[in-house]
Amino acid sequence: MKFSYLHVNEGRLQNTLEQMAKIGATSGGGVQRLTLSNEDKLARDLFVKWLYDLNLEVTIDEMGNIFGKQQGKNPILHPVISGSHLDSQPKGGRFDGTLGVMGTLEVLKTIQDLDLETERSIIIVNWTNEEGSRFAPAMVGSGVWSGALKRDWVYNRKDIDGKRFEDELSRIGYKGSIPCQKRPVYCYYEYHIEQGPLLERAKKTIGVPKGIVCLHWYDVYLEGEANQVGPTPMEGRHDALCAAAEMILKVNTLPNRMGGNMVATVGEIQNHPNSRNIIPDKVHFTVDIRSWDDDHALSAWKLVRQNFEDIAARRGCTIRIEETWRVDRSPFDKKMIHEIKTITDELGYPHLDMISGAGHDASYMNQVCPTAMIFAPSMSGRSHVEIENTSWKDCEAGANVLLHAILHSANEKRVKSKLRTH
Ligand code: GLV
Ligand code: MN
Ligand code: MN
Repeated sequence: MKFSYLHVNEGRLQNTLEQMAKIGATSGGGVQRLTLSNEDKLARDLFVKWLYDLNLEVTIDEMGNIFGKQQGKNPILHPVISGSHLDSQPKGGRFDGTLGVMGTLEVLKTIQDLDLETERSIIIVNWTNEEGSRFAPAMVGSGVWSGALKRDWVYNRKDIDGKRFEDELSRIGYKGSIPCQKRPVYCYYEYHIEQGPLLERAKKTIGVPKGIVCLHWYDVYLEGEANQVGPTPMEGRHDALCAAAEMILKVNTLPNRMGGNMVATVGEIQNHPNSRNIIPDKVHFTVDIRSWDDDHALSAWKLVRQNFEDIAARRGCTIRIEETWRVDRSPFDKKMIHEIKTITDELGYPHLDMISGAGHDASYMNQVCPTAMIFAPSMSGRSHVEIENTSWKDCEAGANVLLHAILHSANEKRVKSKLRTH
């Protein structure tokens, strides 16, 4: 069906994005809405108000995931879900996550404006803690919902100040009463910024990922021996920070040493006691390894883990390693990808096939139901930074693709559930 006359309201989408960007706004033009912080609460409050303004049926589950349902004509048919997340990185960008939630909100407003009724219900979602920056790991709202993560394990995760996830969820008033567990879903869409440079380089408007790379997270704890820096000779020191420095470079060279498609990063480090005149005795750092090939990422970890143990032994430090989190790569639904490309062509937007190097709740949703994503270009390929930006025109283009994709799926009448059983 040709829908090219049907489009979202660009000015209205810009307005909701700008209003949301005021919550946790930073001086550099970004936002800081760490998971379960006061700013996360304010963003949720505004989102929930907007859901009620649209007369949606609002539910909040025990992980704080927020859903807004627009009833379809046929209650037997399973719903289409679309959304993303409103939490951010420290000094993060205004678009990461928020575009997918506000984009879906704009789609629902457009459908209501035009009095379009769909066969299936459409559910908008804001997932809790997609970023995993304050509370590791990432994507825990969708992770528990899909059955991949245990609720109580997530409840007991702590931030750097020792605050428990569950306590913070209750504190901000978003520990809902509805069980967080998967229900039959027809399909899941997530609209997001690309967070990389490929679309801009190729001068394309829409990215269509064939899936998301695997994500492996590790935590490394080193213990050496503290001492006065002046009188203590260089030889015989057990400097935990120097051991960490060697290890970090081993992570940085890992993709080169392994070959193939892979990235590896140390993004977080804590040094104790962090005084310029004390030899460091305790260091914690994180490791993030991603690849489109799960086995390749595991082999890389085996190699670098051995490197870590050798370095720790040579420097007389003890080492403890936690294998914190793994999500396998997620190949998306081919039929949905085809439909998105068809819509993109019909709307006249040039598209690019790609792989998502960033993690998304779509990874866990892909384990439950057919899933696909739509990407908008990131200016200069910058993301997870305050200057993260996407033009309003590109925001609108992606939302138009989302509108038609949701309408297509929500009007498919097949009764049989597409719920995946694996
Ligand atoms: C999520 O933001 C990620 O780490 O890719
Ligand atoms: Mn995101
Ligand atoms: Mn992010």
